[in-house]
Amino acid sequence: MILKGKEKQEIEKKTAGEKAAEFVKDGMIVGLGTGSTVYYAIKKLGEMVNDGLKIKAVSSSKATTKLAESLNIELININDTVKIDLTIDGADEVDHNLNGIKGGGGALLFEKITALLSSRNIWIADSSKLVNKLGKFPLPVEVIPFGSKRVFEILNSTGLNPVLRIRDGKNYLTDSGNYIFDLHTGGINDPEGLDKELKLINGVVETGLFTGIADIALVSENETVKILKRGK
Ligand code: 5RP
Repeated sequence: MILKGKEKQEIEKKTAGEKAAEFVKDGMIVGLGTGSTVYYAIKKLGEMVNDGLKIKAVSSSKATTKLAESLNIELININDTVKIDLTIDGADEVDHNLNGIKGGGGALLFEKITALLSSRNIWIADSSKLVNKLGKFPLPVEVIPFGSKRVFEILNSTGLNPVLRIRDGKNYLTDSGNYIFDLHTGGINDPEGLDKELKLINGVVETGLFTGIADIALVSENETVKILKRGK
């Protein structure tokens, strides 16, 4: 079947999402990412739970909590576990070293914390997300509202072209009540270095640069899935 445009992207999201659910086994504590790709993995996990799979899950956002609850997936508080066995999440861009940009959906802070507690991280993506170099997608940076103008000026003066995220005519607020600046970097040569540099600015809570986190990425092309492994 020849797929194009939005239809191709949707089939690819579903293909990658459902493939990721195959990695989930009985007894696991599973981290659930956020977004329209991981939606398909969570839906599939809901079906598996309905068929008898026993898992507990940690949610990375209010939206994911709502979805998981609607599917009868048992959720636990992240502070009630010392580790998560496996986290499944989407990405806005992923490169061949499995560095990525996340946070298009605004859940970068909880997603990163969930990922860091996870023994294994699987990313799922449609083919449009795989890039040679990160940075075409604006890089989300979560910033506390207090003094955010100062942070904006610093980012602006370093040529990172921040744009305050607006939704429905108002400043977008994350689940933690913070703002997001989307940085139009024009391309990121050193993702790890930029992540560290940004985190040094007081008021920056988290960045959407995820380096050294994903263990594998399932990237779909039409209805087939390519498995990319970090360091391979
Ligand atoms: C949310 C995220 C998402 O994983 C990322 O934006 C990809 O979303 P989608 O699967 O809807 O394209 O980081 O904060």
